[in-house]
Amino acid sequence: MSRILTGIQSSGEPHLGNILGAILPAIKNASNTQNIAFLFIADLHTLTSNKNPKLIQTYVKQIAAAWLAFGLDTEKNIFYRQSRIPEVCELKWYLECMTPYPMLANAHSFKDKSNNLSDVNSGLFTYPVLMAADILLYDGEIVPVGKDQKQHLEMTRDIAKTFNNKFGEIFTIPKAEINEKLMTIPGIDGRKMSKSYGNTINIFLPEKQLKKQIMLIQTDTIPLEKPKNPDICNIFKIYSLLANKEQISDLRKKYLRGNYGYGDAKKELLNLILDKFSKQRKEFNEYINNSEYLNKELEKGELKAREIAKMKLKRVREILKYG
Ligand code: TRP
Repeated sequence: MSRILTGIQSSGEPHLGNILGAILPAIKNASNTQNIAFLFIADLHTLTSNKNPKLIQTYVKQIAAAWLAFGLDTEKNIFYRQSRIPEVCELKWYLECMTPYPMLANAHSFKDKSNNLSDVNSGLFTYPVLMAADILLYDGEIVPVGKDQKQHLEMTRDIAKTFNNKFGEIFTIPKAEINEKLMTIPGIDGRKMSKSYGNTINIFLPEKQLKKQIMLIQTDTIPLEKPKNPDICNIFKIYSLLANKEQISDLRKKYLRGNYGYGDAKKELLNLILDKFSKQRKEFNEYINNSEYLNKELEKGELKAREIAKMKLKRVREILKYG
């Protein structure tokens, strides 16, 4: 069995881009019997950029509810909140003491912000070491991440090798799995869907608010009567990611025929989302309204994760003669 491990950011409400680009592929991967997935919500990392604990907690709940609503198997896999396993912070310290300062000063995530150093907190600076601890604590073997995290994974490998060279074969050297083919989901303005662009479609919103987001999808101003080109239309692009072949070809015909407005297409997209995700929307709300149940699901993973973390940390402490 391979240990696949990945951290999930908790910096915003889960949106369609997260679902199609990350949640569904990861759940599929996790359901492979050859794998066991460690999936955690990286809520400690979030504190580097967000100082509102209540808001972070809301995001954590929403993200957990989204993964569960999409069917993550929490019996087979280990699904947990990073913050509930304090061992990771202790390991981070040991790893930090093995990490050369210039390595961290070279991290893109830091460099991009270093022109305004007074805005950089030390947590942001050592962010990659917490990531290394996240992975090494559980002997993660395969780490699926976005391209932007590639450098962090290289640092994890370097840190693990340095430690192993000094103290023996303690840590598994992880491999990054960067899926270049992973689709980019267009947002309502046509750019990559991302919270930071404010162009997301949040499929778990109540219908009225969801409709509002969809109605804001940008289009050109070709009048209703005229034929339209589906292939350059944001509504059509998003629709095509969700619909079946027949639905896509029907919508294409309507575009080409004319007498079909963007407002109509938006309504069609809304209905498709409501229909396709009706089960997940319902379950999401059940989880959000039942914190106890949601917590129980996470605690199940936390119990398992903590056992593994404790054993690993014990070994590291022994080697460092901290008992
Ligand atoms: N930094 C990662 C991101 O922004 C999230 C993350 C935290 C992570 N710890 C990790 C990913 C460990 C993989 C492994 O996407």
